[in-house]
Amino acid sequence: MGKDRIYNFSAGPAVLPEEVLREAADEMLNYRGCGMSVMEMSHRSAVFQGILDEAEADLRELMGIPDHYKVLFLQGGASQQFAMIPMNLMKNRVADYIVTGQWSKKAYQEAAKYGKANKIASSEDKTYSYIPDLSDLPISPDADYVYICENNTIYGTKYKKLPDTKGKILVSDVSSCFLSEPVDVEQYGLIYGGVQKNIGPAGMVIVIIREDLISEEVLPGTPTMLTYKTHADAGSLYNTPNCYGIYICGKVFQWLKRRGGLAVMKEYNEKKAKVLYDYLDESRLFSGTVVPEDRSLMNVPFVTGDKDLDAEFVKEAKAAGFENLKGHRTVGGMRASIYNAMPLEGVEALVAFMKDFEQKH
Ligand SMILES: Cc1ncc(COP(=O)(O)O)c(C=O)c1O
Repeated sequence: MGKDRIYNFSAGPAVLPEEVLREAADEMLNYRGCGMSVMEMSHRSAVFQGILDEAEADLRELMGIPDHYKVLFLQGGASQQFAMIPMNLMKNRVADYIVTGQWSKKAYQEAAKYGKANKIASSEDKTYSYIPDLSDLPISPDADYVYICENNTIYGTKYKKLPDTKGKILVSDVSSCFLSEPVDVEQYGLIYGGVQKNIGPAGMVIVIIREDLISEEVLPGTPTMLTYKTHADAGSLYNTPNCYGIYICGKVFQWLKRRGGLAVMKEYNEKKAKVLYDYLDESRLFSGTVVPEDRSLMNVPFVTGDKDLDAEFVKEAKAAGFENLKGHRTVGGMRASIYNAMPLEGVEALVAFMKDFEQKH
């Protein structure tokens, strides 16, 4: 890590690979001899088309995305998908939602504006500290899709296996676990995520959608910009996209390929998370807030059990170069987000600091 950098445990926007930032800095004024920054070039230029094509090809390779899925680079953040999904997929105006945190709750509430949204399972009773039983869900016979948020950024839970949707299309928000491990894309009708956690700068969402789900038949009144077909037909260039965001995401895809791909990232992420979880399990001061079997590899919430001590910890950690450890206001305590770009040394240094803090308190 560069001397001028701190360990950033932010939930998002979050740490990016230093290598990527340095490459982008080198290319800032003159992208590969074209005399201008990527920020300044036309999105219709051959140079930018090359950046977009390469980013898509690398993402397809990393995730093993089959040809009958489209990859869309869109704006509006992950939250815009809360509306775009029902507008495009709710043919019967019925959808089933599994509510495992604030983000799936928001998606569920948004879908209810467009049709009948059924909350078929929830973990709200215990502050979303677990993933509900998925073995025999009351899937609605006329549901257009089943919706999940696969990694719950705020609460630190992760689906370790996908729900049995009884043949219905699975739609998944993977914002906070994007590219953290291999996925079987064909299990899903639609996968999407905001990129500002594991992939790139804020302001962009990637949607991976099965081709047969893209159609002109959307709910009446759906804006052109919120119709998947608009963007699929135009190769994500219907209007001016987030060009610089796409460029940085592309660099992160390349970085992931150089690291060895998603299976290698999964191993690394497991190793990293284990360092922190093992310590939380043995500590007499700190404890994790999630049931062990549903723990996320990406977001690790923990508490001391004393609000004042939590605040003191966050303050002392910041002074020692560990930033953004304050937990979400609805959970309190602390949260360490340890996305792909957080090095093992960062987690080891945090645990050493926590041990020291525990001794002193
Ligand atoms: C899982 C999840 N979904 C959706 C969102 C909302 O993302 P955006 O701010 O891009 O709309 C977030 C943001 O933190 C998130 O963690």
